[in-house]
Amino acid sequence: MKIGISGASGQLGKTVLAELKVRGGHHSAVGISRTPETVQSPAEGRHGDYDRPDTLTKAYEGVKRLLIIPAADVRPGARGRQFAAAIDAAVNSGVEHIVLISSAATREAEEPEMFAPYWTAEQHLIRTAPRWTILRMNYYAESLAQTASMSLRSGILPGLGESRVAFVSRDDLAAAAAGILLGEGHAGAFYNATGPDAVTGAQRAALMSEMSGKPLHFTVLDEAQLRGGLVQAGIPKEYIDAMIDIEKHFVAGDFNIVTGDVERLAGRRPRSLREVLKATPK
Ligand SMILES: NC(=O)c1ccc[n+]([C@@H]2O[C@H](COP(=O)([O-])OP(=O)(O)OC[C@H]3O[C@@H](n4cnc5c(N)ncnc54)[C@H](OP(=O)(O)O)[C@@H]3O)[C@@H](O)[C@H]2O)c1
Repeated sequence: MKIGISGASGQLGKTVLAELKVRGGHHSAVGISRTPETVQSPAEGRHGDYDRPDTLTKAYEGVKRLLIIPAADVRPGARGRQFAAAIDAAVNSGVEHIVLISSAATREAEEPEMFAPYWTAEQHLIRTAPRWTILRMNYYAESLAQTASMSLRSGILPGLGESRVAFVSRDDLAAAAAGILLGEGHAGAFYNATGPDAVTGAQRAALMSEMSGKPLHFTVLDEAQLRGGLVQAGIPKEYIDAMIDIEKHFVAGDFNIVTGDVERLAGRRPRSLREVLKATPK
């Protein structure tokens, strides 16, 4: 069986390919992206560009099960178009089972809301794919760790309100995706890849402070203050809009979901935020 990973050159895609290799079995892997030369043997690299649908149809040829990993493209409308192009190309190429990486907080919404394209992609997939599985990711623990240095410089971990978030390690999401691709009985299922517990803003500031030995306080700001700080840090507007949308969903509790899905699909316990922060180079 040929298993395709679309978005294979990225951090998640590389780890899914590594997980498939470790798990072995009777399959061959195809890694698809705009940089197929980065795909490591024994996987086969193929060129496919979410912005050029014709390249995707060719890239997905002969693939039986396909994982679609979204591009980190924040241009308004881009992600929705890319998802639709990838799903259509997969269906036209005869892919039998499509696994979509979607996100927690997905619900009916309109662009440019951050989660609108995930909603339209899920709906399009359900309507058109012969078989599908949706794996909704929680917020990456590694992404929080990445912002630690900026927060530690100011001593403030900002939020729009207190929130509980079940941060998931990207590696655990990858292992869960590999479990779906190699397993049976996942057609028609929605899974939520989450960490083992939901952590408050105050708890994550305390953890980051403990790991770094520097003071850090979770601080509630209003939207204008948060936006102003991000502008001052030199972050481009599209990213700021995305960060604000994510924060709003944090406060609404949309990432406050703890499931046993990673353990069930990956066959191992998901890592806690503490474990991920501890393993992150300072
Ligand atoms: N849950 C969270 O907290 C969180 C945080 C950050 C990101 N994300 C999402 O999770 C996704 C996967 O994460 P990641 O860490 O693996 O991201 P990443 O390292 O940026 O990987 C993105 C992948 O998308 C591919 N890609 C980008 N533009 C493309 C295009 N036009 N056509 C085909 N492929 C394209 C890239 O390959 P080439 O550039 O080689 O084509 C790469 O393989 C991200 O893209 C983003 O949507 C989630």
